[in-house]
Amino acid sequence: MKIAVVGATGLVGGEILKVLAERNFPVSELIPVASERSVGKQVEFKGKPYTVVSFEDAIAAKPAIAIFSAGGGTSLALAPKFAEAGIIVVDNSSAWRMDPTKKLVVPEVNADTLTPEDKIIANPNCSTIQMVVALKPLHDRYKIKRVVVSTYQSVTGTGKAAVDQLFAERAGNTDVAKVYPHPIDLNVLPHIDVFLDNGYTKEEMKMVNETKKIMGDDSIQVTATTVRIPTIGGHSEAVNIEFESEFELSDIVNILSNTEGVIVQDDPANKIYPMPLTAHGKDEVFVGRIRRDESQPKTLNMWIVADNLRKGAATNAVQIAEYLLKHNLVEAEPVTA
Ligand SMILES: NC(=O)c1ccc[n+]([C@@H]2O[C@H](COP(=O)([O-])OP(=O)(O)OC[C@H]3O[C@@H](n4cnc5c(N)ncnc54)[C@H](OP(=O)(O)O)[C@@H]3O)[C@@H](O)[C@H]2O)c1
Repeated sequence: MKIAVVGATGLVGGEILKVLAERNFPVSELIPVASERSVGKQVEFKGKPYTVVSFEDAIAAKPAIAIFSAGGGTSLALAPKFAEAGIIVVDNSSAWRMDPTKKLVVPEVNADTLTPEDKIIANPNCSTIQMVVALKPLHDRYKIKRVVVSTYQSVTGTGKAAVDQLFAERAGNTDVAKVYPHPIDLNVLPHIDVFLDNGYTKEEMKMVNETKKIMGDDSIQVTATTVRIPTIGGHSEAVNIEFESEFELSDIVNILSNTEGVIVQDDPANKIYPMPLTAHGKDEVFVGRIRRDESQPKTLNMWIVADNLRKGAATNAVQIAEYLLKHNLVEAEPVTA
């Protein structure tokens, strides 16, 4: 299958190339796309160099699927052009996520909603993906009433320039392009994406709205505080969940241990719990610190960590492509427009 990766020179794009190779996705031809300034540069896939092309050349090459990670503006402008040419777009940006005509998909949760009519498919926000993978099986069993989440998010979530800012600051170099409004090294910023009129950030409202859409349940109440910290391995989340029904902690652990894509790491006596350093480079969502909220009934606390570039972006997008292929929702040879 011909696959285009739009944003192939970026952090998420690079990870998509790795994940496609690692999971042995049947790529017959890779078509890397980036901005005009990168056309002619090379990226590596399965040990071979591939030349970055323009989006016009990519459409002309007629890939079956284009996985986008090139920012919201690029997606808004280019995804419809790919879709009109019969190419299925899996988009990592926030451009289409809340569009009621587009599916917002985490394969473990709601891939069964996909149909052959879905030509632009949205990949959710990274912090939302890792949370819903762990919440869904618990919602199915106990019905979630309310979620209170605080995040501790990696600078890789802001892209290459943010990683450069962190390491430049760490090396004592203050003469670096600033992605954040304040220093990030030795700091914590309660500010991800832009502030909205209600006092929340856009990232916080993404967690509220995307959770309801992916879980297909508007009754779930969510409130979020999203925070950037100077780490690179992945995003961490302290999550408080109030259920309709009473639960046994041992059942929660059992359910999560048997959930596809989840690994329970919960052995405090041996200092075992999820961390960005250990989640880095992995595709799974790690859950630990599973305990009762002793301040009110039917309420649970847990700690969720995943590599935002993998399950939070690249892996989830490639899993969507795998689902399309497995369920004959994409033609191995592209549709002629
Ligand atoms: N980082 C994460 O954890 C994460 C998670 C989920 C979703 N996302 C989303 O994924 C997207 C990319 O994030 P990133 O972290 O990979 O950013 P990044 O490292 O800054 O990379 C951005 C990529 O987009 C390309 N690009 C920019 N303008 C373009 C245009 N007009 N046409 C084609 N390509 C263009 C860039 O190409 P050049 O190299 O030529 O500039 C580069 O390949 C964003 O929408 C982000 O919200 C990121």
